[in-house]
Amino acid sequence: MIPTHLRCPTPGCGLESDREDGEYLCRRCHGLLELTYDYPRQDAVGWPELWRARGHGGSAADRSGVWRFRELLPLFDDAERVVSLGEGATPLVDLSRAASWAGVDHLSVKHQGANPTGSFKDLGMTVCITEAVRLGSKVVACASTGNTSSSMAAYAARAGLKAVVFVPRGAVSGAKLAQALDFGARVVEVGDNFDQAFGILRELAPKLGLYLVNSVNPFRLEGQKSIAVGLLEQCDWRPPDYIVLPGGNLGNTSAIGKGLRELSELGLLAQMPRLVVVQAEGAAPFHKMWSSGSSALIPVADPSTRATAIRIGNPANWPRARRVLELTEGLTTAVSDLEIDEAKRELAACGIGCEPASASTLAGVRRLRLQGLMDRGVRVVLILTGHQLKDTDYITEHLAGAAVVAGGSTSAEVESVVGRLV
Ligand code: F0G
Repeated sequence: MIPTHLRCPTPGCGLESDREDGEYLCRRCHGLLELTYDYPRQDAVGWPELWRARGHGGSAADRSGVWRFRELLPLFDDAERVVSLGEGATPLVDLSRAASWAGVDHLSVKHQGANPTGSFKDLGMTVCITEAVRLGSKVVACASTGNTSSSMAAYAARAGLKAVVFVPRGAVSGAKLAQALDFGARVVEVGDNFDQAFGILRELAPKLGLYLVNSVNPFRLEGQKSIAVGLLEQCDWRPPDYIVLPGGNLGNTSAIGKGLRELSELGLLAQMPRLVVVQAEGAAPFHKMWSSGSSALIPVADPSTRATAIRIGNPANWPRARRVLELTEGLTTAVSDLEIDEAKRELAACGIGCEPASASTLAGVRRLRLQGLMDRGVRVVLILTGHQLKDTDYITEHLAGAAVVAGGSTSAEVESVVGRLV
């Protein structure tokens, strides 16, 4: 049993909290709490072999691409009782065509769209909902640009909990809403953007007895950090030079960074990859802060981008994401909606479908190359965060040329139309 603590990571604070309180904020400095472990460093040498062997195991926990790495996760008395839908274990695919488009020699994608509800959120949700059950919570809640809500709704259904979702009015893809509704969540429209919906939920959650599962919840990050572990395993523990991911509320940046830090502390990471956070130009407060060398984030009051998943102006996780960039000598960039369209098209030409927010990563690499901020010879892994079918309206409404052609009803009509097309 590896002892686990819930601590405030804010430099100079470090106060420990009681896990049984179900809190996510430090009561002294209001920093976001984090889980820490007293790892037996000497044992870690054997963990990669143990994890690999479990991959062929028979239990739900062994088959999960999160719980397979459970030495790195908060303790649960009974691995059989974890709330899992078989998340993780997502593919790593090399893309030579997209690599040359972006201007680098080696490029792969780690596709989180292959998760049970089609996004990376499932890796965090399996841990977070397991904790909600352990604490005896009855109702879980989130504010969401769509994916968190689909994922929470599925895992809540699996666990027999009620689920309440706050979504910004008219700003979430229909497919994501449909998923949440299909899993039986109560969906409530709140405010005009994620930040407003999230602010109201944070205020109401304690009053209404709702267990908050947004990425401010430390257990979410524990699950999502296994994206880094699974990736390193697939790379045979030879890390890429760069890991690139889209930044919204910056939970995933914090989680993957935490995973890398812990692997490094355990001696399982030969060299620290550099993390690159890509934001959409109209919703890029973190990029603005980092690139200007400022130490405080100035929120964007009215964030805008067609990549609705990352339309966030006031990311809650920015302090820890900042520490991650410091640790990994990271980079940030911001890309326009047009650049996202081009990158999405390029990925599709490689047979890789993803949602617009995910495609921002490829656009970001191209931009960094054009700016001379990344070398050609590097190995890059993009974290594609969501599935292509998460936002089909975006494809049919915004991508030029992505239209169905009228063929007619007779064979002669169709012949002449298709003859012109091929
Ligand atoms: N990509 C996708 C597809 C997302 O859904 C999100 C966030 C991100 C990237 C950004 O990740 O917030 O950890 O920096 N979606 C959240 C949601 C906000 O409600 O589904 P982040």
